[in-house]
Amino acid sequence: MHTLATLLPYLRRHRLPLIVGVLGALADTFLRLVPAYLLGQAINLITANQPQSEVLPYIWWIGLFAVLDGIAVFVQRYMVSLVSRRIEYELRGDFFAHLQTLDSAFYKNLHTGDLMARATNDLNQIRMMLGPGVNGIISTPATFLVTLAFMFGINLKLGLIVLVLMPLVTVVFYLLNGRMRRQYTEVQGQFAELSTRSQENLNSIRVIKAYGQEQAEIKRFAAANALYIKLNLVYVLLSGLLWPLLGMLLGATTAIVLVVGGGDVVTHQISLGQFVQFNLYLAQLGWPMIAMGWTLSLVQQGLASLGRLDEVMRRQPHIYDDPTRLQPATQPISGEIEFKDVTLTYDNLPVLANVSFHVPAGSSLAVVGATGSGKSSLVNLIARVYDPQEGTIYIDGREISAIPLDELRQAIGYVPQDNFLFSVPLRDNVAFGLLDEHSSQQRVVVTARNSTFLPRNSSAANHLPLFHWNVNLDDDPLRALRELSEDQRQRIGDGVEVARLSKDLEQFPQGIDTMIGERGVTLSGGQKQRTAIARAIVRDPAILILDDSLSSVDTGTASEILSGLREVMKQRTSIIIAQRIATVQNADQIILLEDGRIVERGTHMELVALGGRYTAMYRRELLAQELDVEPEVAAGIS
Ligand SMILES: Nc1ncnc2c1ncn2[C@@H]1O[C@H](COP(=O)(O)OP(=O)(O)O)[C@@H](O)[C@H]1O
Ligand SMILES: [Mg+2]
Repeated sequence: MHTLATLLPYLRRHRLPLIVGVLGALADTFLRLVPAYLLGQAINLITANQPQSEVLPYIWWIGLFAVLDGIAVFVQRYMVSLVSRRIEYELRGDFFAHLQTLDSAFYKNLHTGDLMARATNDLNQIRMMLGPGVNGIISTPATFLVTLAFMFGINLKLGLIVLVLMPLVTVVFYLLNGRMRRQYTEVQGQFAELSTRSQENLNSIRVIKAYGQEQAEIKRFAAANALYIKLNLVYVLLSGLLWPLLGMLLGATTAIVLVVGGGDVVTHQISLGQFVQFNLYLAQLGWPMIAMGWTLSLVQQGLASLGRLDEVMRRQPHIYDDPTRLQPATQPISGEIEFKDVTLTYDNLPVLANVSFHVPAGSSLAVVGATGSGKSSLVNLIARVYDPQEGTIYIDGREISAIPLDELRQAIGYVPQDNFLFSVPLRDNVAFGLLDEHSSQQRVVVTARNSTFLPRNSSAANHLPLFHWNVNLDDDPLRALRELSEDQRQRIGDGVEVARLSKDLEQFPQGIDTMIGERGVTLSGGQKQRTAIARAIVRDPAILILDDSLSSVDTGTASEILSGLREVMKQRTSIIIAQRIATVQNADQIILLEDGRIVERGTHMELVALGGRYTAMYRRELLAQELDVEPEVAAGIS
């Protein structure tokens, strides 16, 4: 019940169509009873040999009520489906918006597939619960009770027979349907297993042949295949049983009513018209009784799905704007960075220990060190991808936790080590950070929340019209997002220039508008890195962070990019992580990390003069250059 409470705000917002829908359902319950009554009356008139003119009006009334009932059913179905679709729409939007607030710590432990299942299957189940489910919960018991009351009104004995036998239909459907669902899940699981197995087999067919494992593979496949058919046959048995069993129950009830009631007609205890009326009611009850069983399982599944969605919605980001700490900005971030005794651990694994350094605004810092020494972790702290356990980080003298996340990230151009390009034209990839620039007044505020589902985009659904006749698919709501101003176009051009992409663009079929990824050209590692650099610099950030972003770019181009960057970054702070000392030797200061500690620091000249680890690294690099091998190989030689 607790989970259901989370839906209340959504239901409350759509109460009007919901109430209209329920009224439609109740109207249907009553309207449906009238034709049977009228028919009973007509039959009584006919058996009493009344003239046709007496009987005919009844026929017209029957037609009229059938039409009225049709309208009631339409109103009910339309309204309830409308509400369920809109709530699904809102939940999906809120779920997505919530996912955007969660941080790396959440995503590290969750499978994408699992999240996708919640956003698709579970959301569907919730919609089914809200649509046919809510509908059925109200209308099926109402239909049952009202119809039964009318039946009792005709004849007590016959009514009792129905009261005892018809609920069995609901029970049988509910139990068998539940069993079938579980069986079906197993069938699907085994089918997935079978397809994975055959796919792997086909991919590795050469290895299998080389090892002479064909027979073993055939046996393994046969076993999985046999299990699949067995599971399927159980399902076939269950689904084969369901409808005949229901038919049998309904048929038996009708037969008993016919035998008992038929006798009563013969002995004139009830009229033939009433008896026909009773039988029509009985026939009308069949479907609602089945629907009740279906409704029960829809609600059961819907609640389970709601629980799974709720579980994610309950998660709070660890990193958020804490209103008690925030200090409003007095001026734009200029980019001075200071680390004071910063210590970071991931699940008790120490990654950075007592790291302190100071980068004046407008200067450059280079970070070098072996793989796993903590370089990426260090720069992750600046954009608050993670927060350190100990120590403090300041930007322009402000603690970073006092800076609104949005202001902080707006000031940073970050090229992560594992950068990501979207399957869109190259221009859109470069413009990625600009897409939302014009809406900077209404930025996302990431705060901790107590409520589970907090409807966010709720107002949007209320602005939708009640009826949709058609949808214009050419109407692309994303176009406005993609439109760039003249100034932004200029910046993209400059960014592409600085990242030395122009020459590559000349070779692409549509220049900067060329599609990238699966539906377009495949970029080389270096081209990808340079696109990511262009993306970061078009944002004109106060702080530019390049995490090993030149590793696949040749040394010559790398130094061209860096000298170009020095031009644009004159007033800016830059932090450059690199494997090659050649890339970073012009930096204002260099720190060398080893197992999360700063072991050496200074300018290139100072560090070379020191004759320590940095010098050794540099020598290896120079030697490698001479021998034209990788530095690691050179380490073995020297
Ligand atoms: N998200 C994470 N969760 C747990 N451990 C991590 C995570 N990121 C990095 N590490 C670990 O922290 C250490 C430092 O990693 P990293 O900062 O990526 O080093 P570098 O960039 O110098 O190669 C490594 O031992 C790595 O395995
Ligand atoms: Mg790294």
